[in-house]
Amino acid sequence: MKPSRLKRPARNRELATLIIVKIRLFDLDQLPEGSALSFTLGSKQAFAIHREGAIYAYLNACPHLGIPLEWMPNEFLDDENELIQCSTHGALFLIDTGECVSGPCRGDRLTPIAIQQDATSVYLDE
Ligand code: FES
Repeated sequence: MKPSRLKRPARNRELATLIIVKIRLFDLDQLPEGSALSFTLGSKQAFAIHREGAIYAYLNACPHLGIPLEWMPNEFLDDENELIQCSTHGALFLIDTGECVSGPCRGDRLTPIAIQQDATSVYLDE
């Protein structure tokens, strides 16, 4: 075998490590300030909330029973738009940490999703 052929696999591995794939979750236009948005993450359901300029994302599964939180599509917040509310038994969660502060799963947390964003979109941060 020629020496040049022996070098190809190593070079291909180097090139492969330079490829960065960003998984886009949604456009920022879909999530105006003060709103919530459902999206899928592989086979799982998730949601994001835009509050005071920051975006928070969690798996859509209540720590109490593991079922979806919203009472209608994209409706995750309580009447005051201050807390995330589970529609089944009323657990309330802090928007910025996902901590349950009231209800049957008090002290538990929603599962956060690491995200990053640019001027137009939100991406999964792996
Ligand atoms: S399923 Fe969410 S509080 Fe019971």
